[in-house]
Amino acid sequence: MCKKYVLVFTYIAVAASFVGDCSAKIAPSFITPCNNTEPACLIKATQDSIPEFSKGVPELGVPPLDPFVIDELPIQLPGVKVTFLQGKATGLRKCQVMNVEAYLEKNVFLLQTRCNLTIKGKYTAVGRLLLFPINGDGDAKIRIVNSVIKMDIKTKYYKDAEGRDHFGIKSYRYTFDYGDRIYYNITNLFKGNPELSNTVLQFLNENWRTVTEEFGKPVVDYAMNVTVSTARKFFQAVPYDELLYVPIPKY
Ligand SMILES: *[C@@H]1O[C@H](CO)[C@@H](O)[C@H](O)[C@H]1NC(C)=O
Ligand SMILES: *[C@@H]1O[C@H](CO)[C@@H](O)[C@H](O)[C@H]1NC(C)=O
Ligand SMILES: *[C@@H]1O[C@H](CO)[C@@H](O)[C@H](O)[C@H]1NC(C)=O
Ligand SMILES: *[C@@H]1O[C@H](CO)[C@@H](O)[C@H](O)[C@H]1NC(C)=O
Repeated sequence: MCKKYVLVFTYIAVAASFVGDCSAKIAPSFITPCNNTEPACLIKATQDSIPEFSKGVPELGVPPLDPFVIDELPIQLPGVKVTFLQGKATGLRKCQVMNVEAYLEKNVFLLQTRCNLTIKGKYTAVGRLLLFPINGDGDAKIRIVNSVIKMDIKTKYYKDAEGRDHFGIKSYRYTFDYGDRIYYNITNLFKGNPELSNTVLQFLNENWRTVTEEFGKPVVDYAMNVTVSTARKFFQAVPYDELLYVPIPKY
C-alpha cells in the first residue's frame, strides 16, 4: 500500500510526507514496548494490552477475542456425540496476567494467565449419558471460574517483504487448569423429561471436574487455536521493533 501511495503522489510536492507515512508506527497505541525482558515489564505491558487487544484491531486484520465465536464444534465423548453450535465465549478481556517470560535467544515465550470465561450457545447431544439414552437439544451455558492457562510458545523471527523483522509463533503447548469451579446450565438434556434433565444436570455440576476432564479438551484446544491464530495475525502486521525495544537476536 505504501508503495502505491508513493507512485501516485510522486509528481506532487507533498510526496515526501506520504513517503514519511510509510515508516509511521503500525502498532496500536495500547502497545507499550518494554526496554528489557524483565518479567515485571512484560507482565504489565501484556496486562495493559489485553482489554484493547481482545476488542480486535480491524485496521490490522485482527479479529476480536472477546467475544469470540464458536460456530460449530463437534465433541465425541464415550457414548455421546455432542455438537456445540452458535457459541460465544466472553471474559478474555478481564484475564489476569500472572507471568510472562521471554527468552529471545532461545525462542521461548512463556505466558500464564488466570481467567473467568463464559461460553454460551446451543447444543445437540445424541447417544447415551450415564445409563440413559440421550437425545438432547437446547441451550448451554458454561461458566469457568479462575482457570489457569499456561502457554509455552516457540517463537521464530522472520523478515517481511519490506525487510522488517517480525516475531512469529512456530508452535505452542499449553496446560489448562480448570480452576476453582465450573458451572453448567444446560437445558433440555432429555427431550420431554425435565425431571431427568434436571437430575442429570445436577449430577454434572456436582461432578464438574470429572465431567470437564471428559469433554473440556476439544473446547480448550479450539479456544487456544483461535487465540494463537489471532496473535499470529497481530505479529504479522506489527514489526518486532514496535513491540519490544530490545535488539533482535541474530537469526
Ligand atoms: C523505556 O525507556 C524510555 C526512555 O528512557 C522511557 O521513556 C519508557 O518509559 C521506557 N519504557 C518502559 C515500558 O519502561
Ligand atoms: C473470577 O470471579 C471470581 C468470583 O466471581 C473472582 O473472585 C475472581 O477474582 C475472578 N478472577 C479473575 C481472574 O478475574
Ligand atoms: C439456566 O438457563 C435457563 C435458560 O437458558 C434459565 O432460565 C435459568 O435461570 C438458568 N439457571 C441458572 C441456575 O442459571
Ligand atoms: C486452527 O485455526 C485455523 C485458522 O483459524 C484453522 O485453519 C485450523 O484448522 C484450526 N486448527 C485446529 C486444530 O482447530
